[in-house]
Amino acid sequence: MRSYTLLAPAKINLYLEILGDRPDGYHELIMILQSIELADQIEVRANGTEKIRLFCPHPDVPLDESNLAYRAAKLMTENFPKVYANLGGMDITLDKRIPIAAGLAGGSTDAAAVLVGLDLLWQLGLTQPELQTLAAQLGSDVPFCIAGGTAIATGRGEKLDPIKDLDNLWIVLAKYRNIAVSTPWAYQTYRQQFKTNYLQENSDIQSRTSEIHSGPLVSAIVHKNPQKIGQLLYNDLEKVVLPEYESVAKLRNILAEAGGLGTMMSGSGPTVFTLCQSEAEAKQIRHQAESEIGDPTLDFWVTQLTNKGIQVVL
Ligand code: C5P
Repeated sequence: MRSYTLLAPAKINLYLEILGDRPDGYHELIMILQSIELADQIEVRANGTEKIRLFCPHPDVPLDESNLAYRAAKLMTENFPKVYANLGGMDITLDKRIPIAAGLAGGSTDAAAVLVGLDLLWQLGLTQPELQTLAAQLGSDVPFCIAGGTAIATGRGEKLDPIKDLDNLWIVLAKYRNIAVSTPWAYQTYRQQFKTNYLQENSDIQSRTSEIHSGPLVSAIVHKNPQKIGQLLYNDLEKVVLPEYESVAKLRNILAEAGGLGTMMSGSGPTVFTLCQSEAEAKQIRHQAESEIGDPTLDFWVTQLTNKGIQVVL
């Protein structure tokens, strides 16, 4: 039976600013999202039954509806009931390489890969905007994961404005294996502590969004100025996550002192990254931080930025 194998890259946030509350309970955000080469591999295969079956050997990955990849498949069966009735269910196999609950959109990118994989398997011929509309029903980061690259994301994070790709830089990622941060917790805690600073008027949100669009970080990306990009990394969620997780705050300091262009926590954390000019610099920073901290539960990855989203490999 026909199958597709896809690569689903992780993302980092070069910028994350929380602007205000939304009527749907989410936050109005302005982010700059960037795909990286660290990727999960996903196989989608017609299974000749009516079932959606998820397989993943990783002990922490749920195999039921609580997994966004499962919900992506379910969404496709609901949106294309006739095709589903004709072609049946599917086996989805996840080879997890992106750490879980890490602020790297691992679950979102798997879901994006399932949408793309089923579009191919069922020969639906959906356009990228059509796939992204489906993706937005699954999570705020899923639409970005479809196309990948470098993009400004606004609204809940689902409104995308691609900017010139940044695929020539390297990063070191570091994450404590036993620390996972809940994204809802991070945003709720931020709301409790900073709600008084939230912008109330739509017009204020619009003007802050335009300010970032035409601001120094976007300009540094467009003009490929790595030093400036490194200096202008920003993430509001650091204000709640770092005080709660002392070891992550310490890791951030050690990485920042080890060199590179700039260091920041990605998304709701707890992964911290340092942007680097070269692979050699990234490896040197990794080595220095690894020996300084000396904790066997601290994982590192050295990887490159990429201009690619979901890719078909087989
Ligand atoms: O959209 P997603 O399911 O990835 O979001 C996870 C959680 O993060 C939401 O339940 C919400 O608590 C928080 N969130 C938010 N505002 C956003 C995106 C996420 O408050 N724009």
